[in-house]
Amino acid sequence: MPKMNRRQFFILGAAGAVTASVANWAIAQSNKTSPASSKFYKSANGLLEVNLEASYRPVNLAGKQAYLMSYNGQVPAPRLEVKAGDTVRIHFTNNLSQPTNLHYHGLHVPPTGNADNPFFSIPPGENLTYEFTIPKNHPSGTFWYHPHHHVYVAEQLFAGLAGLFIVRGELDEIPEIQAAKEEFLVLKDFDLDEDGRILAPNHMAMMLGREGQLLTVNGQVNPNLSIAKGGLLRLRMLNASPSRFYRLSLENHPLYLIATDGGAISAPVELEELLLAPGERAELLVRGDRGPGQYRLLTLPYDRGGMGMMGGGMGMMGGHRMGSGMGMMGNSSQTSPQVLATLTYQGSVATLPFPERLIPVETLPKPETVRRFELSMSGMGMGMGSGMGMSFTFNGQTYDMDRIDTSVKLNTVEDWELINVDPDRMDHPFHLHINRFQIVSRNGQPEPYRAWKDTVLVRGGETVRIRIPFRDFAGKTVYHCHILDHEDLGMMGIVEIKPAA
Ligand code: C2O
Ligand code: CU
Ligand code: CU
Repeated sequence: MPKMNRRQFFILGAAGAVTASVANWAIAQSNKTSPASSKFYKSANGLLEVNLEASYRPVNLAGKQAYLMSYNGQVPAPRLEVKAGDTVRIHFTNNLSQPTNLHYHGLHVPPTGNADNPFFSIPPGENLTYEFTIPKNHPSGTFWYHPHHHVYVAEQLFAGLAGLFIVRGELDEIPEIQAAKEEFLVLKDFDLDEDGRILAPNHMAMMLGREGQLLTVNGQVNPNLSIAKGGLLRLRMLNASPSRFYRLSLENHPLYLIATDGGAISAPVELEELLLAPGERAELLVRGDRGPGQYRLLTLPYDRGGMGMMGGGMGMMGGHRMGSGMGMMGNSSQTSPQVLATLTYQGSVATLPFPERLIPVETLPKPETVRRFELSMSGMGMGMGSGMGMSFTFNGQTYDMDRIDTSVKLNTVEDWELINVDPDRMDHPFHLHINRFQIVSRNGQPEPYRAWKDTVLVRGGETVRIRIPFRDFAGKTVYHCHILDHEDLGMMGIVEIKPAA
């Protein structure tokens, strides 16, 4: 078993001290009420036209100055709102000191040209106009945008580049949903020093996927949400963290799931808690049917695996599950619930009706093709610090921009079997661009309800079967692990969608 050497231990110790001071900083900022995420841009007359500038500069985070990467100086980035059929034109400028680009996570738009093209590299100082049309039959839902330049994705997202991209439509028009109070919650962790600068992750944190100890919702620490007695609250949640998982629970309130990554489900599903992996979205209804008071929205402890990578050296750190404050370890092996936001009852209304039916989710035809993808990390057991050659793979291969890994036919349905064979049993959330899919089964067990997804958690040792209709758009795009350090370390493949000859 590998041992942690002195130098590595020193790095850990130093990072630990910084993390602790950040924790104090966070507490000092907690429980401030400020208006929820400010700016948004909405389409008008069928067009959404905006200027977006990525830059590194001081921005206000949780009431304090931090040096972050932002779009238009805002963290989270401005929310964009369109309707199906609208044209989107984004005049994008890269004022970062590294290359970047834009990806529209979850949108069903072309992967080619100046649409959702993940292969662009926009150098520092350059600009590019993205332009595409949202199909007329595009589902309504909670989508988002973030940079997608290979090897910079985790760094740029962690530094603050991410925003919501909302498509309004049929779900918003259901009267009971319309009557609900709508809140957007962008969940994002940061790791800052006393001066508000992003801490660079060490090697281990990159292997596990970097995490920060400062948990923010819309750039705030523990913001207040309110609900009227008798009212309904619609929470539209995005996990915009590069690696952190959120196991969400609201004190004394069940959560009613109404939409997943790819849009509405057919009827609300009552949940005690909801696990949101990086990249995933969920829409929840909360009923204002409890006594007056304050209720905390919590994230509960969750072990996403991978601690085996630490080898024997972790013994001195107190074993497998460590307390929070170990942010530089990358893994959110927190042992107690953490508060994300606080829900307060305010006023009352005549009890609003609860929706019984939402939007039917189609039954997909049987697949024409079944493929297997093994998700793993190669170079097992190399342990902390010695794993410079370690890589993250699909079917044993790391990303190669000149290789097509998977070739599919347009207008066919495929089943992809995602098998997590990671020797350290690390969770890997799998994401596919452009086309949404449905989960067919987990370890052979059928899913309890049909839902549209674009990111699916594949736990250590698990096999998940997904069914994908490849529709409308031909061209090359990518699938990858949405622990973005894993993506940057090679866990990405290229799929080419070929038009029928
Ligand atoms: Cu949100 Cu290719 O990712
Ligand atoms: Cu995506
Ligand atoms: Cu991964």
